[in-house]
Amino acid sequence: MVKNVAVIGAGISGLIAIKYCLEEGLEPTCFERSDDIGGVWRFTDEVEVGRGSIYKSLVANASKELMALSDFPMPEDFPNFLPNEKFLEYCRLYSEHFKLGKYIKFKTKVCSVKKNTDFPLTGQWVVVTETIGEKETAIFDAVMVCGGQYNEPSIDLDTFPGIEKFKGQVMHCREYKRAVGFDGKQVLIIGMGNSGVDVSTELCTKASKVYISTTSGVWVIRRLGEGGYPWDLKFVTRFKNFILSSVPPSWARWIIKNYMNQYFNHHFYGIQPKGIVWKEPLVNEEFPSRILSGSVVVKPGIKRFTENSAHFEDGTKIDNLDVVILATGYKYSFPFLDESVVKVDDSKGFLYKKIIPLDLEKPTLAIIGIIQHVGPAMVSAELQSWWATRLFKGLIKLPSAAEMKEELSRDEKLRLRWFATAKNNCRRTEYIQYLDEIAAQIGIKPNLFKLFITDPVLAMKVLFGPCNAYQYRLTGPGKFPGAREAIMTQWKRIEKPLKTRVVEDQTSFNFSTIFLWFICLVILFVAMLVIH
Ligand SMILES: Cc1cc2nc3c(=O)[nH]c(=O)nc-3n(C[C@H](O)[C@H](O)[C@H](O)COP(=O)(O)OP(=O)(O)OC[C@H]3O[C@@H](n4cnc5c(N)ncnc54)[C@H](O)[C@@H]3O)c2cc1C
Ligand SMILES: *[C@@H]1O[C@H](CO)[C@@H](O)[C@H](O)[C@H]1NC(C)=O
Repeated sequence: MVKNVAVIGAGISGLIAIKYCLEEGLEPTCFERSDDIGGVWRFTDEVEVGRGSIYKSLVANASKELMALSDFPMPEDFPNFLPNEKFLEYCRLYSEHFKLGKYIKFKTKVCSVKKNTDFPLTGQWVVVTETIGEKETAIFDAVMVCGGQYNEPSIDLDTFPGIEKFKGQVMHCREYKRAVGFDGKQVLIIGMGNSGVDVSTELCTKASKVYISTTSGVWVIRRLGEGGYPWDLKFVTRFKNFILSSVPPSWARWIIKNYMNQYFNHHFYGIQPKGIVWKEPLVNEEFPSRILSGSVVVKPGIKRFTENSAHFEDGTKIDNLDVVILATGYKYSFPFLDESVVKVDDSKGFLYKKIIPLDLEKPTLAIIGIIQHVGPAMVSAELQSWWATRLFKGLIKLPSAAEMKEELSRDEKLRLRWFATAKNNCRRTEYIQYLDEIAAQIGIKPNLFKLFITDPVLAMKVLFGPCNAYQYRLTGPGKFPGAREAIMTQWKRIEKPLKTRVVEDQTSFNFSTIFLWFICLVILFVAMLVIH
């Protein structure tokens, strides 16, 4: 029987893991190496070893109604896209509401997690932690790893020949905090991911010129979608998902390309991704206009560096370069786990349901939050934690090892279809499909058919509205009445922060249109009679 559970990390995933342990009657102990909760979302001026680091101006790329956890809607007055400190505030509210704080040990780093070889059949773990130089060992029945996936920069200097000769400043964008100290400088950013693009649009207001280099291209969308509503309210819906997954890939590709190009023509701007069916878009409203005004210049891949210049694959070069920022992304690892427990294999996949390492005698170790999809990270972490705690309790059964392997290879085929050439393949997945798959095993997947019969108004909102986490609280073990309420009132929370100046409602009965419709109907009716 699993009773006490070690939770590694007190970012949002760790907080969620503690909460679901409590909900399932388990006893969590959470270890956090820094001195506060929030993980990557807690901005500090200093970069800490082993914790994700963000820049001061970071604003979430998903809207608050999609980021909210299943039983804890965001405060009404929160803006739709949360600046980082607001999401941290949400983490604090969540932690206070569910009384999670007392289970967390701060300034405590997990050094190693090993199988308890004295009692191999128990599936227990020996966990060694370190608090300010003092080591401690304890035994746990299960472990939830919630250490985050953006802690270590991925820097492969071999791909930038000559960079060691470069006399200017070289930094990873993890070290970038704000646009101070860049006045009048020429900056080259390598990599066009979320951070690279954000940093480029911020820096170009200070630097004399910002160049941004990419080999693969990228889709860029805006926070404000159709009609000025948050983009994901219309994009992350069951209906859209259903359409995209039921048409042939070439159609899906066409639909996506059109959607992405609604804002601006990516080909025209020289950043259209090549040859990939589906690539996660990044969200930034300023980028195209900065390119248009010439303050950000798009460049192809790097060929080599010299003392003060960069040469590109197309034969062009930039002289008098002052700063190079590597926005080359992150790699993840589990330094406290032995290879016999988890062997990271990014191309094939090594976690069943992206949670449980293959080849464990007993499934008592879960990895939360090692995943990538177009949708907020916290919601998948929530369902993963819920699923894992129920697995620990024996309420969910794993299939045989062979079946799990087979499922992974099926997954791989699907990924190849959708994500073609990307190298960090195994973390990628379709968002709603993945959530539903996990939810079905927990028994909380909404049954749309039944819903249409019993509660059609709600069903419409579930099908066509944003696919938020409340939907997983409508049935099954975690069912709660607030979920329906949260879905029905989502527009109130979306509108509330915009009601800082109330404008009288303009829509009133328009008699002339009604009259026109009436005339049309009469004509149609008469025509039918005549034809008869
Ligand atoms: C620049 C940037 C922007 C992002 N923007 C968004 C966004 O807009 N929307 C979105 O959904 N997601 C975004 N993310 C993804 C983000 O990672 C997730 O939103 C979320 O923070 C994941 O939470 P987590 O708890 O899994 O990991 P983290 O927030 O990274 O927390 C992990 C915690 O574990 C601790 N830890 C690690 N190792 C140990 C150890 N050995 N012992 C003890 N403690 C340990 C760390 O100190 C940290 O506190 C962004 C990420 C980055 C880097
Ligand atoms: C939001 O940012 C995170 C972290 O950089 C990323 O994994 C995710 O894909 C982004 N989502 C979108 C829609 O851009």
